[in-house]
Amino acid sequence: MGRRGAGITAVAGWVPPTVLTNFHLEKFVETSDTWIRERTGIRERRILVERDRTTSDMAVYAIHQLLRKRGLAPEDIDLVICCTVTPDHVFPATANIICDKAGLRRAWGFDLEAACSGFLYGLACAVQFVQNGMYERVLVVGAERMSAIMNYHDRTTCVIFGDGAGVVLVEPVVPELGVQVIRLYSDGSGRHALFQKAGGALHPPTIETVLNREHYVYQEGRAVFGHAVRRFTEVIEEVMDVAGLRSEEIDWLVPHQANLRIIKAVARTLRLPMEKVMVNIHKFGNTTSATIPLCLAEWEPRLRTGDRLILATFGGGFTWGAIYLRWAYDGSLVPESGRILDAFPGEGTANGQTEEKNSD
Ligand code: UT7
Repeated sequence: MGRRGAGITAVAGWVPPTVLTNFHLEKFVETSDTWIRERTGIRERRILVERDRTTSDMAVYAIHQLLRKRGLAPEDIDLVICCTVTPDHVFPATANIICDKAGLRRAWGFDLEAACSGFLYGLACAVQFVQNGMYERVLVVGAERMSAIMNYHDRTTCVIFGDGAGVVLVEPVVPELGVQVIRLYSDGSGRHALFQKAGGALHPPTIETVLNREHYVYQEGRAVFGHAVRRFTEVIEEVMDVAGLRSEEIDWLVPHQANLRIIKAVARTLRLPMEKVMVNIHKFGNTTSATIPLCLAEWEPRLRTGDRLILATFGGGFTWGAIYLRWAYDGSLVPESGRILDAFPGEGTANGQTEEKNSD
């Protein structure tokens, strides 16, 4: 008997209420709204300023919305894969904390670190667990508090990143739907182009590492840009080739949101009109492993059963990959479809739900 299919059957997203605009950043570093918009496409990003909340909390808010939308109980979840470069702690895994805070009493979980490619790596893992019949319901979370590792004196990085969380549910689906092709790659020789220099076992924290600001994101932007455009395009073309897909058959490209120029260059090479490309970088910036699930959550009302999606990413490591999937449900029928929540629970509308305040 052939394997059963596995697909995304629900999606949700949460971003912090605090908006950090390009104009705010002009006050911290030598930059301008014009430079940031023209070089990256970003106008604003969200940051979690509340000291008593962090990555796991953002993930939990997104998960609670997903469970509500699908009418599921916390006990229905078997496994949580938390993709992040900003875990609550070095250990234990943030997935453990999420299970506890979200009341997922039957679930176990683990963290997966593949920088901006984390979500695709995590989705690929979830699909294996579901396809082989081990689990029925797996959550893949991309959650990042990038502001915790951002040097707000470094104009080359602090204008790019933002905070947020997105989550998808992976469940069995008929084999014609769900994930069809997965291609993932890594090349560790690129590790020094985008990384956090200290805080790990190679350079544990010392007074010197703190004074040298080595606990923040470091990026050689131009070098990463070149690799990103090339790898993105290559891997998408490979997936299209394996699936026998022509450009005009793709309904949606869901690219990691690192830079609007990268996204446009890739779309141009693939001859995909920008109307078929999900883009939210202008309002959320680069939320690392959260960008793709946040896009899916926002576009959910427009997604139909059988739609052909390509999810693609490139990030630190280097890591990159693409996944071709057939969307498994009609997003227009889902309650709260398309709403990226951006208020803390209990601080929103009268029924305790939060209200969307995203500024397009
Ligand atoms: O998500 C993971 C993967 N990451 C990526 O894919 C990111 C890839 N890289 C990028 O998106 C772009 O390289 C950046 C947005 C990071 C930088 O844009 P760029 O067009 O590649 O700029 P650059 O690094 O080549 O710098 C051009 C100039 C430099 O000045 P000089 O040396 O020409 O005088 C920079 O110092 O722009 C300067 N610059 C800035 N100026 C104003 C760099 N950052 C800023 C800034 N505001 N924020």
